[in-house]
Amino acid sequence: MNIKNICCIGAGYVGGPTMAVIAKQCPNIKVTIVDINEARIAAWNSVNFDDLPVFEPGLADIVKETRGKNLFFSTDVDKAIDEAEMIFISVNTPTKTYGKGKGMAADLKYIELCARQIAKVAKQNKIVVEKSTLPVRTASAIKSILDETGNGVQFQILSNPEFLAEGTAVQDLLMPDRVLIGGDTSTKEGEIAVQSLVNIYSEWIPKKQILTTNVWSSELSKLTANAFLAQRVSSINAMSEICEKTGADVREVSKAIGMDSRIGSKFLNASVGFGGSCFQKDILNLVYIAKSYGLNEVADYWEQVIIMNEHQKNRFSDNIVSTLYNTVSGKKITFLGWAFKKDTNDTRESSAIKIADNLLSEQAKISVYDPKVTPSQIYSDIDYLGTRAYEDNKALLTVSKDAYEACNESHAIAILTEWDEFKNYDWNRIYKNMQKPAFIFDGRGILDKNTIESIGFTYYKIGSGN
Ligand code: NAD
Ligand code: UDX
Repeated sequence: MNIKNICCIGAGYVGGPTMAVIAKQCPNIKVTIVDINEARIAAWNSVNFDDLPVFEPGLADIVKETRGKNLFFSTDVDKAIDEAEMIFISVNTPTKTYGKGKGMAADLKYIELCARQIAKVAKQNKIVVEKSTLPVRTASAIKSILDETGNGVQFQILSNPEFLAEGTAVQDLLMPDRVLIGGDTSTKEGEIAVQSLVNIYSEWIPKKQILTTNVWSSELSKLTANAFLAQRVSSINAMSEICEKTGADVREVSKAIGMDSRIGSKFLNASVGFGGSCFQKDILNLVYIAKSYGLNEVADYWEQVIIMNEHQKNRFSDNIVSTLYNTVSGKKITFLGWAFKKDTNDTRESSAIKIADNLLSEQAKISVYDPKVTPSQIYSDIDYLGTRAYEDNKALLTVSKDAYEACNESHAIAILTEWDEFKNYDWNRIYKNMQKPAFIFDGRGILDKNTIESIGFTYYKIGSGN
């Protein structure tokens, strides 16, 4: 089937970049991204391309090239569904915060709303593509809603999970390791649907990197990939604590094990713990699925990845308190970085939030600098935890537009995100304007120990023993 019109429901961190790249690579396809969030759509339509709601290196240029030609952002969801032969669902699937499965299962209410809306509007056959990360077997729920509430039109459901990482989304979309498409190839219609999506990706991705599987394998592969990646981070973070106790250096250990081709060198950076909207949510979801099948050992195995991650965040803040003579009350601590990783403005599940919350509970004064995150986002992240009153957060936490200003009169600096610019700061100048002794807690291991210590700092580097 030759696709001419694509609709994507959900203009977020996945929908926006993914569809912008499809529009760029397939100039003959009209791509319309819709969302119920009017402010988000208005931001995607900003005159100034610096104001797009998602910051990703290279994304603004692609939007500039395609927007108004074959890429459109709209709040008219019905119209876009009606026009499209293929509809991607790319809405959020957060962890449930209520009812059965609270704190574990994926909340599928947004997915279900999309399915009902597609069923209501569709007058011609549609291919519906799951782009969101979903529990295995969600496609059958979507299919039953579409078939039973629809207007008698035929729906084919495909699973096409997204593997992009934030901060490198454009590069990951242009040159993915692989694209995964799950579909029901036992029927002619299913085969045609799979082929239609394969054809779109084939415009720029070599065929051998486009994998087709059954729907359940595709859905489960996404959860599995994230679980494996997060597990590597928790594993190296576990080793970072042993390194600190034994005098080993986790970066040397990572290098040594990463050169074993069976292990591989990627995803072995010790850190303040993984953040981001995906890892924790997807592992919790996996744990919930395992438990629901009575697979308790499997559930416990994966849950440990999350337990280790929480421990890594808590031990980082505990170390700051104990190093600063067991009290941070009234002391200014500067956070360099708030985003969950560099090159993104996304702060979802960022370790900085939990670490700040721990230190605020110890009555520290926190000053935050992040090159891409807005003050309102930082306050909303900390208020969302509900640990203390909004006014107390406002009184204890300040946000600076300037890193040097953020560090002035500070007792300690905590590096929470690995932004490149931090490496090139004038650390002599920062040292001069701090309280003494001046401490740096490098949660990303990005500074050079000898240089920093020669300036006079007391330097703690994650995973580095004395
Ligand atoms: P997001 O919150 O940034 O965007 C989702 C958007 O969907 C929001 O703008 C929301 O307003 C919109 N939406 C919700 N319900 C809607 C409805 N009924 N109609 C129209 N719009 C609606 O989320 P995201 O980060 O883009 O993630 C989307 C999905 O992709 C999730 O399932 C996530 O697990 C998965 N995923 C995310 C990443 C990532 O790096 N963020 C990577 C791979 C997969
Ligand atoms: C992740 C997956 O990588 C991606 O394939 C999936 O589509 C979405 O979830 P993302 O969360 O955007 O992507 O970023 P990622 O690079 O995976 O980093 C996640 C977290 O782990 C970040 O907080 C990062 O700082 C941390 N991390 C990553 C480490 O602490 N050490 C590492 O070695 C790698």
